[in-house]
Amino acid sequence: MEGERITRRSLLTGTGKIAVMGAGIATVSGGLNLFSRAEAKGGPTEKWPWPYKKLDPAKTAEIAYNEWYRIFCGGAVVSSVFSQLREKVGEPYKSFPIDSFIFLEGGIAGWGTICGTNAGANIVTNLIIGPRTSGSEDGMMMGSEIMQWYADTSMPTFTPKDSKVKTEIPMTVANSPLCHVSVGKWMQAANKDLNSPERKDRCARLTASVAYHLVELLNDWKDGKYKTRGAMPAKSYNIQSQHNCTDCHGSNVPAPPFAAK
Ligand code: HEC
Repeated sequence: MEGERITRRSLLTGTGKIAVMGAGIATVSGGLNLFSRAEAKGGPTEKWPWPYKKLDPAKTAEIAYNEWYRIFCGGAVVSSVFSQLREKVGEPYKSFPIDSFIFLEGGIAGWGTICGTNAGANIVTNLIIGPRTSGSEDGMMMGSEIMQWYADTSMPTFTPKDSKVKTEIPMTVANSPLCHVSVGKWMQAANKDLNSPERKDRCARLTASVAYHLVELLNDWKDGKYKTRGAMPAKSYNIQSQHNCTDCHGSNVPAPPFAAK
C-alpha cells in the first residue's frame, strides 16, 4: 500500500520534471518533442501572443544602444521594443517587468552562454508572434533566424548618432550565437579588455544592431511579408547545437550515437 503510494507520488514528480523540460528543451529537438506547439501555449489565463504595432528600426536601435548602459544586452533589446509598445499599445507591455531581464548580461549572469541580445530577441519574437498557428510563422523560428544572422554578420552593424566612444570600433564575425565566443573574438581583434570603454561600446552597438534587425523582421511579419529563414539545427545534427562544430571539436567532430545508422 505505502510502497504503491510512494511509487505513484514519485511517478507524478517525475512527470512534472518532464513537463518542465518539455517547455524549455523538448520543443527544440525533433527527437524529443513531447508536446505539440499548441500544447506548449500555457495555462488558460495566459493571453499570448501580444499585439504589435510597427516601429522605426533606427529609433529602436538608438533606444537599445542607450539602454545597454543601464540594463545591458538582453534587457536593452527587450526594452527597446517593449518600452515603445508600452506607449503605442499599453497593456500587457505596461505590466511586463522589462528590467528583470538584466540577468541576461554577459551570456546570463556572466557565464558567457547565449549572447543576451539573442535571448532578448527571442523573448520579443515569442511574445509577439507566439506559437505556430496553421500556415503562419512562429516566434521561435524568427528567433532562430536572428541567431543565424547574428552568427554570420560582421558586428556591430549599427553606429549610434551620438556614441559614447568616438574612436573606430572594429567589426568581427562571431560564427556563433554565444557571448563568450562573440566577445572573445572581438577582444582579440580589437586588443581591448573586458572593462575597456571600447568593449562596452561594442556590446552596446551590437545590441542596437540586433534591435534594428529584430524590428525590421517584425515589421515585415506585421505586413504579412515575412517568410522565415530560421531552422532548428537539432533537426539536422541529431543533437542540439550551433553549426560551428569544428570551433570546439577541431577536425574530429563526434557523431551522436543515435545518428549512426
Ligand atoms: C561551443 C562549443 C561546441 C560546439 C559549437 C559543438 N560542440 Fe559538441 N560538444 C562540446 C563539448 C564541450 C562536449 C562535451 C565534451 C566532449 O565530449 O568532447 C560536446 C559533446 C558533443 C557530443 C557528445 C559525444 C562526445 O563525443 O562528447 C556530440 C555527439 C557532439 N558534441 C557533436 C557536435 C556537433 C555535431 C556539433 C556541430 C553541429 C557540435 N558538437 C558543436 C562543445 C561543442
